Amino acid sequence: MNSLPEPILLRNRREDRPATLDEYRASGGYEALAQAIKQYTPRQICEMVKDSALRGRGGAAFPAGLKWLGVKEDAPHPRYIVCNTDEMEPGTFKDRVLVDADPHQAIEGSILAGYAIQAQRGIIFIRPSYEQGAQLLERELEVARQAGFLGKNILGRDFSFELDVHRSAGRYICGEATAQVNAIMGHRPHPMKGVHMALQGLWGLPTLVNNVETLACVPHIVRNGPEWFRGLARTETGSGTKLYAVSGKVNRPGVYELPIGTTLREIIEGHAGGMLSGGEFKACLPGGASTRYLPRQFYDLEMDYDTLKAVGHRLGTGAIIVYDQHTCFVGATLNLMEFFARESCGWCTPCREGLPYIRDLLWRIENGEGKEEFIPMLRQMAGHLAKSYCAFAPGAAEPVISLLTYFTDEVREHISQKGCPFKNVQKPRPHLWYPPEE
Ligand SMILES: Cc1cc2nc3c(=O)[nH]c(=O)nc-3n(C[C@H](O)[C@H](O)[C@H](O)COP(=O)(O)O)c2cc1C
Ligand code: SF4
Repeated sequence: MNSLPEPILLRNRREDRPATLDEYRASGGYEALAQAIKQYTPRQICEMVKDSALRGRGGAAFPAGLKWLGVKEDAPHPRYIVCNTDEMEPGTFKDRVLVDADPHQAIEGSILAGYAIQAQRGIIFIRPSYEQGAQLLERELEVARQAGFLGKNILGRDFSFELDVHRSAGRYICGEATAQVNAIMGHRPHPMKGVHMALQGLWGLPTLVNNVETLACVPHIVRNGPEWFRGLARTETGSGTKLYAVSGKVNRPGVYELPIGTTLREIIEGHAGGMLSGGEFKACLPGGASTRYLPRQFYDLEMDYDTLKAVGHRLGTGAIIVYDQHTCFVGATLNLMEFFARESCGWCTPCREGLPYIRDLLWRIENGEGKEEFIPMLRQMAGHLAKSYCAFAPGAAEPVISLLTYFTDEVREHISQKGCPFKNVQKPRPHLWYPPEE
């Protein structure tokens, strides 16, 4: 097992409480900010992030440096940065650990992003169930302000920046960057198509939205250099470490910071303590609920963006939900579809109507009312989800598509046996709309 000599993002993690400002500083915290504003131009920081090959950790894996360079030097002011700590993707809990362990790391990363694009204001957007984290951040933001890292003329230089916490109203779609911008402005949080955030984000002005894990990497990149960051990865095209949030049928669920590209086998058998009760690995969701089931044949795959892409999968948020041989994948997919159907923002038809349709078909299959023709219907409905307005519905389609790719036999068994072969406890019959009764 090849583990990191020392964690980087989680180096100040302790069991009992978050790291204080003094502890963060003792581990090199805020050195990057001082270096940045004294030695480097904002553009140089953007270039550094680009050279580090850091990719967004919020799910889409967009190159962070390219996004930052998208805010042109002559773009209008004021400019904004948003630190996305919404984290409502089922199975994902890395951002919570990151903030709770070392809040100043998230704060410093956000200030550096602010400096790099010459923003005046930053917002940490956090889900309401992370109230403890929100209060912690508010308290530590004040500590950072008192220490001269926030506010007017930071560290005596010509850079002023304010950072606040914004609590989400608590819907999954608010994590999507353009919906988040609407939410912050107090509008209905529907996503916006064709909006170039670097030009027209919050209040029509240049805005940078990054995941909190992405931002937390930046102080380390500035302090140690882009090459060092790239060298942390286990793969050719990867860079940095990754916070893998492991849950499900493992002995030690938790967040593990490992070189990006660590194999699935090592993560599960080494770090997460192996399969629960001596079970067998059947499949996992590699990056939260909006990714495809990754079955056993990929057990030795390096968990990085390009390696997964090469086999038709996505790393997403790196939240690995592990299933064993006793898992019914019809039931597991139904569970996910209940979430997605509930969380659809309702703005466009394929998603608003398609997800309840899929949920109802799966419910019928799971509960002995399935028919063979439901399989092509599921395929067709999953295809319709790709025609939706935003990335929510195509993400929701991923588990369904992979259910039909890898576990069709299991679906058929449900249909022929008129019920779940795993003998799952049946839930009371809800009102089902789709397909309409004959
Ligand atoms: C439905 C949906 C929910 C999302 N939720 C989150 C979230 O909770 N946190 C996050 O960082 N990104 C989330 N994203 C991705 C954001 O739209 C955006 O890509 C990301 O915040 C950009 O930051 P990054 O480049 O650092 O990853 C979500 C996307 C979609 C489609
Ligand atoms: S795909 Fe779903 S979440 Fe996205 S805009 Fe359409 S209804 Fe809303």
